Amino acid sequence: MAREVEELDALLSLLTDAVGVVKSAYSAHARQPELEDAAGQPTQLGASEELHQARRNISSASRRTLLLMANSAFETAALRVAAGACVADHLLPHPSGLPITDLAAKCDMEADKLARVLRLLACKHVFREVAPGVFANTPLSTRLARKHGMWDLVNHITDECFKSSAYLYDALAAPVFKPPFAHAYKHDAGYWAYMAGVDKTMGARFGRAMLGVDMAEIGPLLSHFPWETPPPGTTVCDVGGGVGTVSLALANRFSQLKLVVQDTPNTLAQARLEWKETAPQVVSEGRVDFLPLDFLTQAPNVGCEYYYVRCCSARLRSDERSEAEQRQLKHVVHDWADEEAVRLLRNVRQSMGAHSRVLIHEFVIQPLFPPPTDPREGTTSSAPSPSLAPDSSALHAHHLDLTVLCLLGTKERTQGEFEHLARKAGLGFVRLWNLGE
Ligand SMILES: C[S@@+](CC[C@H](N)C(=O)[O-])C[C@H]1O[C@@H](n2cnc3c(N)ncnc32)[C@H](O)[C@@H]1O
Repeated sequence: MAREVEELDALLSLLTDAVGVVKSAYSAHARQPELEDAAGQPTQLGASEELHQARRNISSASRRTLLLMANSAFETAALRVAAGACVADHLLPHPSGLPITDLAAKCDMEADKLARVLRLLACKHVFREVAPGVFANTPLSTRLARKHGMWDLVNHITDECFKSSAYLYDALAAPVFKPPFAHAYKHDAGYWAYMAGVDKTMGARFGRAMLGVDMAEIGPLLSHFPWETPPPGTTVCDVGGGVGTVSLALANRFSQLKLVVQDTPNTLAQARLEWKETAPQVVSEGRVDFLPLDFLTQAPNVGCEYYYVRCCSARLRSDERSEAEQRQLKHVVHDWADEEAVRLLRNVRQSMGAHSRVLIHEFVIQPLFPPPTDPREGTTSSAPSPSLAPDSSALHAHHLDLTVLCLLGTKERTQGEFEHLARKAGLGFVRLWNLGE
């Protein structure tokens, strides 16, 4: 009993401290805290590691039951309905609410069924029932409007990721493993081939979804890595850069950088349109090039200085010494099994010069078991043990780990696994940049 009370006290003080950190951030930004965004939307409040940790502690304090976890599939399904039917957009002109009959008519759905879906979401602060059968947006649901990249991201997750995830058990239990995506979509050639050939709308949505994911994650990358240090003319090559989301943020913030976005021709066509619309000046100044590349068979553009892969950045240095170059790989290595990942990194290494760097920006899977205790220094972890579940900082990484397992049959990696890949590609580990994601 005494131990349980002690744990509750520890939990209380952990939460009090964490809430204090978040409150200070709100004060610094002259914003009133909102219940809906207390544990989310990190970009609006800045990106300090202390703030990230505080948010993680707050959200991990709300424990879940097995029943709630099993039923959370319906939250995903309900989000798909809301995003697919553009409910947030229909509610935007009606801040004090819209009767469900009018809303359902706009969505071309049955009023009673749509109301039931929205009520489930309202339990999670996504939409609000302001009077019987009258619904309005909340700060969270507003982010589901089409103008936000989050709309595409939520559609991507609640559509192909969710449908694939329903087949995870079948895929693992089958005598021969095929990614769950292949089971769900009855298509064996893979997710990339499906988007390039069968469903280009899904492909375009994926590109835009990457913009949505990145808005939340680019902040720490911009502020934690010393991008201001490289001299004018420094070239960053965004290998497998998609529509160039990170490059776009870098180009806008650091005017001395030159960007080279390399991806498949289809994706680059989309990238050119995106940049023309959102960064016309960078395009007209000639600070960005879009160069097609198959990174599994070709070396990227020669003559740059950095390479980048996503979430936590591990910097890898070429053993070779020649010209300075930068390449950037973001959210790319996790899409590939070891063999292809090594091939990709070897191709990058081929184009590297003496001072070239590879920045791999990915989640780094951390152990969930308690860290070893050093008798001289005490525990080495800052994890909020024992009161909080160990999901606090790891949940996002494990979500993404299962996302790539379901869509592609691949994995997120530990630091050791990244170092192993790097060694096989002839690269050396230099430094881990913790972006607190
Ligand atoms: C997960 S997305 C990441 C995009 C971007 N790095 C980001 O984080 O927004 C992976 C990218 O790899 C690209 N890709 C897949 N296979 C490729 C290949 N063989 N050569 C070049 N790019 C490829 C895809 O088109 C996609 O844009």
